[in-house]
Amino acid sequence: MHVERHADYAALSHRAAEIVAELVRQKPDAILGLPTGSTPEGFYAALVAMQISLASVRTFNLDEYVGLPPEHPQSYHAYMQKHLYQHVDVRPKNRHILNGTAPDVEAECLRYEEAIAAAGGLDLVILGVGHNGHIGFNEPGTPWSARTRKVALAERTLQANARFFGGTGPMPTHALTMGIGTILGAKQILLLASGEGKAEIVREMVEGKPRVEVPATALQAHPRVTVLLDKSAATLLSR
Ligand code: F6R
Repeated sequence: MHVERHADYAALSHRAAEIVAELVRQKPDAILGLPTGSTPEGFYAALVAMQISLASVRTFNLDEYVGLPPEHPQSYHAYMQKHLYQHVDVRPKNRHILNGTAPDVEAECLRYEEAIAAAGGLDLVILGVGHNGHIGFNEPGTPWSARTRKVALAERTLQANARFFGGTGPMPTHALTMGIGTILGAKQILLLASGEGKAEIVREMVEGKPRVEVPATALQAHPRVTVLLDKSAATLLSR
């Protein structure tokens, strides 16, 4: 794991955008795995500000809530529209997000895995990390071989994400997510963490013993992982 400590959230967001821009310069048809949540908002803003063409890029989001239609304001479809797609030239046919309202969930997850494989596999996956160590919505206890599937959200995740659902109805209890195995299949992984609330899980992820109870520790086994932190998220690291 290569760990970078940046001065603040703006600096880590800019650095993440630079890494993606560099990949796209080298490989204009790169296959990207993309996160949602509060952490990557600055990264998307920085990427948009760079005004690079993403016209040949293909994107696969990590996850989507079960039961939320794309037009729901808290769906990850809506998030991606707001933070990235309305500002850049990624072609609609190249934007992939799991369908949380698919009538046949298993078929939807299989279709997604097949689409990633048919595209040639993920070149770069960008991740945030949950307070409990989840990556995507792979909650503690997930086997590292897991593929895209339906999962129940952990209590801690429901509490953390309830803030987004204040005025927009009850929060979904399940999600569709790429598996840890799907994520580890990417050629390169970039994980972003910001703020002191993430310091403890960052320490576990980087310096803790790899174990299924802390899904993010699975990343220690991947040959090409870069962890971008701001100062507060890095406070508990011993080196
Ligand atoms: C979102 C995702 C989650 C988040 C994590 C951290 O697509 O897969 O793993 O990255 O819950 O969320 P924030 O950034 O809101 O703290």
